[in-house]
Amino acid sequence: MRIAKVTERISYIGVNDRRTALFENNWPIPYGVSYNSYIIKDQKNVLIDTVEYGSDGEFLDKIEACTGGGNLDYLVVNHMEPDHSGMIKSVLAKYPAMKVIGNAKTWELMQKYYGIPQENFMQVSDGEELNIGSSTLRFVFVPWVHWPETMVTLDAADGVLFSCDAFGGYGSLDGGIFDSDYNMEEVFLPEMRRYYSNIVAKYNQMVTRAIAKLAGVPVKMIAPSHGVVWKEAPEKVIALYSEWAASKAEEGVVIAYASMYGNTANLADQIGAKLSELGIRNIRTHDVSRSNVSYILSDIMRYKGFILGTCAYNTFMHPMMEHLCNELRIMGPKGKVMGIFGTSGWNGAGAKALAKFAEEARLNVVAPAVEAFGAPTSEKIGQSLDQFAEAFCKALKAE
Ligand code: FEO
Repeated sequence: MRIAKVTERISYIGVNDRRTALFENNWPIPYGVSYNSYIIKDQKNVLIDTVEYGSDGEFLDKIEACTGGGNLDYLVVNHMEPDHSGMIKSVLAKYPAMKVIGNAKTWELMQKYYGIPQENFMQVSDGEELNIGSSTLRFVFVPWVHWPETMVTLDAADGVLFSCDAFGGYGSLDGGIFDSDYNMEEVFLPEMRRYYSNIVAKYNQMVTRAIAKLAGVPVKMIAPSHGVVWKEAPEKVIALYSEWAASKAEEGVVIAYASMYGNTANLADQIGAKLSELGIRNIRTHDVSRSNVSYILSDIMRYKGFILGTCAYNTFMHPMMEHLCNELRIMGPKGKVMGIFGTSGWNGAGAKALAKFAEEARLNVVAPAVEAFGAPTSEKIGQSLDQFAEAFCKALKAE
């Protein structure tokens, strides 16, 4: 049984999931993911969030081991998404006198998902505090990070902020539970950026608001519900989330293309080479039929510019490009420099469809599209490629 200490009073009772291929049945997690749950042992014993149902056959045993077979007084539900709330009914069945703590919106969702008895629910308001013996818990609402009911909880005595999805990331905890146990640059930081772009980026404004709200909260450690506990450098994850929420990007360009017979891929490479000639560094090119959209989104979030290209497909864009565009519509990237290119047999349908998407998504297309009918030979596209690249670079450098 895996029970690590966060502090003398707080234990980690989360679980690693390396069996699920796709998080939310959508996003690849080659390094797995952890569902973190914590127990505070005090005069009142408090469970902070649970784990996904069925992910850990020992979850109830871990609670019992931490409480020494004693009572569990409270379960704090920071977030109702089932990767954290999945064990509420099981825990309540074992500890029927336990109070489940949440806000008014938590209660609404809890009824829809689990239908727990009213007498077990304890509603808290934003900023409310609860004395548990040697410490006080403070509940701070951070709506839409990641659902409307989401809140975070501070244990005042140890300065541990239980932040649920906020400040979390993909990647299982392969031994230690702290940031100081890993070379964070290797897996956790890239996986955290990808998690942010996939799950949280839609709510950038809410993240900025939440971070501002937490500015006055005395935090020594951040204990999220996915990924490492930030013990050594909690300020680092706050800084990263602040940058990402503010859409701050690095120098570089993502080129993502859909190609059936190589013509659009060829054009993508010509654009990449031309941008490189003009001094652009960090060009990342993805074939949307090969790179999972999760990774393309992460790169688009990371860099200042992105260029989408597609072949025509049944008078529209290629379906795999449509998938990327749909995710971009949801993510709503801000402050990006965008370009478009396409190939077709006769009617330029792909580039037209991309232009329509960009307009509807209010993206900043900075140059006329490069288009080729059939093979993108230099005779056909040489001039328009030069014009495109110059306009794109100019806009990129002005950002
Ligand atoms: Fe990890 Fe929004 O749940």
